[in-house]
Amino acid sequence: MKKILILGANSDIAKECANIWKLRNEQLFLVGRNEDNLKKIAIDLKIENKFILQADLSEITNHEEIFNKAISAMNGLDFVLISYGVLSEQKKCETDVQLALKDININSLSVISFLTIMANFFEKQRSGKIAVITSVAGDRGRSSNYLYGCSKAMISTFLSGLRQRLFKYNIKVIDIKPGLVSTKMTKNFKKNILWSDPKIIGKKIVKIIDQGKEVTYLPSFWFYLMFLIKIIPLKIFKRLKF
Ligand SMILES: NC(=O)c1ccc[n+]([C@@H]2O[C@H](COP(=O)([O-])OP(=O)(O)OC[C@H]3O[C@@H](n4cnc5c(N)ncnc54)[C@H](OP(=O)(O)O)[C@@H]3O)[C@@H](O)[C@H]2O)c1
Repeated sequence: MKKILILGANSDIAKECANIWKLRNEQLFLVGRNEDNLKKIAIDLKIENKFILQADLSEITNHEEIFNKAISAMNGLDFVLISYGVLSEQKKCETDVQLALKDININSLSVISFLTIMANFFEKQRSGKIAVITSVAGDRGRSSNYLYGCSKAMISTFLSGLRQRLFKYNIKVIDIKPGLVSTKMTKNFKKNILWSDPKIIGKKIVKIIDQGKEVTYLPSFWFYLMFLIKIIPLKIFKRLKF
């Protein structure tokens, strides 16, 4: 039985992962901000109250305590999935500095805080897996979502260095880069053929973590799409609108 901490357990993608892990009888500790949703998930998955915790994860000073609570409740820890994040309108972030910095705080600084705490724990333990949902948006800044994109790029770069640091301890550092997924975060977006169902993405994330695959685009066609976007010459790229 694996002991798994989910930070951002109310995420539609994380919920799918939690469903699968619960069916496999893994031990879960769920941390979410919206208490009603968290309690509903706990009831659905038959998770006892001592294994759930309501917390606003933008409060970085509480991270150490949250992490330790999860470890003591489960009496250990095998891996962590970080699945929380926000996506404010790019246009609003261009004029509202406070909003832009708030998003960077939750998507980047707060995630880096948790990653630092768990890296030190797993390093001492000499085992563990760290999985973070970043985004294809981090691969190249585009005018339509560069605030969100840079917040995710910061994490992908951090994970790349962390992976090298923890390699000798056999600790897997997993960067999961979804494309477009139909969840609460994207409910107001117009959908097309590029969009994926969170059920499918959740199932794939569980498989990726099982295999310890270090960087994955989800679905895999996003690897090719982003490759093409990354090789567009700057002279052309800066004139494009997307
Ligand atoms: N949907 C996509 O197209 C897509 C694509 C690429 C990457 N991603 C990433 O995938 C991850 C999961 O997102 P999702 O698509 O499943 O969307 P989602 O259902 O909206 O989940 C995002 C979760 O983040 C949590 N959150 C936001 N601010 C928080 C805070 N201050 N403290 C604690 N929790 C906070 C929210 O928790 P509460 O519900 O408790 O408020 C929410 O449940 C995110 O990192 C997102 O950036 C999503």
